[in-house]
Amino acid sequence: MNSTISISANAQQYLDLEEKYGAHNYHPLPVVLNRGEGVFLYDVDGKRYYDFLSGYSAVNQGHCHPKIIAALVQQAQQLTLTSRAFHSSLLGTYEKYITEYFGYDKVLPMNSGVEAVETAIKLCRKWGYEIKGIPANAAKIIVCEGNFHGRTINVIAFSSDPLARTNFGPYNPGYEPVPHNDLPALEKAFQDKNVAAFLFEPIQGEAGVVVPDAGYFKGVRDLCTEYNVLMVADEIQCGLARTGKMLACDHENVRPDILILGKALSGGVLPVSAVLCDDEIMLTIKPGEHGSTYGGNPLACAVAIAALQVLKDEHLATNAAAMGNLLRSELEKLNSPYISIVRGMGLLNAIVIKHENPNAAWELCLLLKENGLLAKPTHGDKIRFAPPLVITKEQVLECVEIIDQSLKLL
Ligand SMILES: Cc1ncc(COP(=O)(O)O)c(C=O)c1O
Repeated sequence: MNSTISISANAQQYLDLEEKYGAHNYHPLPVVLNRGEGVFLYDVDGKRYYDFLSGYSAVNQGHCHPKIIAALVQQAQQLTLTSRAFHSSLLGTYEKYITEYFGYDKVLPMNSGVEAVETAIKLCRKWGYEIKGIPANAAKIIVCEGNFHGRTINVIAFSSDPLARTNFGPYNPGYEPVPHNDLPALEKAFQDKNVAAFLFEPIQGEAGVVVPDAGYFKGVRDLCTEYNVLMVADEIQCGLARTGKMLACDHENVRPDILILGKALSGGVLPVSAVLCDDEIMLTIKPGEHGSTYGGNPLACAVAIAALQVLKDEHLATNAAAMGNLLRSELEKLNSPYISIVRGMGLLNAIVIKHENPNAAWELCLLLKENGLLAKPTHGDKIRFAPPLVITKEQVLECVEIIDQSLKLL
């Protein structure tokens, strides 16, 4: 093992710049990219890689999708930002498009994923006080252990990851964690009449692609309905065709009360996020009570329409389902002593590495990089395999070959 890392002098200069002038809040693989196309990324020395991270599932449509880029360029030449102080000719068009696409009365557009999560939380509390009748400042939101919903000071208050929380206190109150995939624990938590909502990732992406048991989404839906608690699905990572259906909740034909989207809503082009729900919830927020300078800007609207249209036109959910099945079955066939688990849904997958070296997952990612495939460990021993959804059968097989060769060097 102890793979040698090959970094060219050309690449090293970019690493040095980031090291010296940038905050050290990430630990990237030592590769410097300057071009992307479809499932491929290219480094500054022209080497080609399969992208098995897809910008944490933001690039479902493939890098620089021509239709999304065309929409971006065309709109960028016309109008990019009005702020919400004025109307734009694209906002209503986009709002109609996305609400009909997902079947909700209304949308509230935001930018980054975590902003959409914060927006959803505000909606839950507002609804809790004004519709459900929870006493002032007593609203509670149930969350899952092992969650990842972003990095704001409020959202880390209910994270169970010490790295996300330590020395960032004091922590906002109003959240109670229950184990993921545990319906009895959820029902117990719902006994409190002040619970406004259950916020969860249908599949926990950052935790290492943790897929709950069949029937969990349906069980969550039933409990939320029974106890008059809002079901809030954060599909920022698992939504938008990634798991083989448009939404992960679609696997059990379940409709959340609040749907949170981000990442692939722009195909990796801009930070575009959204919260969707029906009028009873959305109209609790009145003018001046929430907003964002860039939320719903014309550029984002044009890009999001194009990005959503590509998912449908290119049947990317169907391809994700088929290619995901192929990828997992080929990985199982490798029978590697170093892979203890292969799991996932569609093209949101992870392997769990079993090795005497605690850094083996990182080492494997370095070997994969040398062999032309980019992936990143999460929580030490897990590696997500989540390529763009445009990947073909031949490409999946080539990637499995790269993984096989790399495992043999571990
Ligand atoms: C499920 C989930 N929610 C929220 C976020 C936060 O999104 P952003 O990084 O765009 O703020 C992420 C990011 O990985 C995520 O996976």
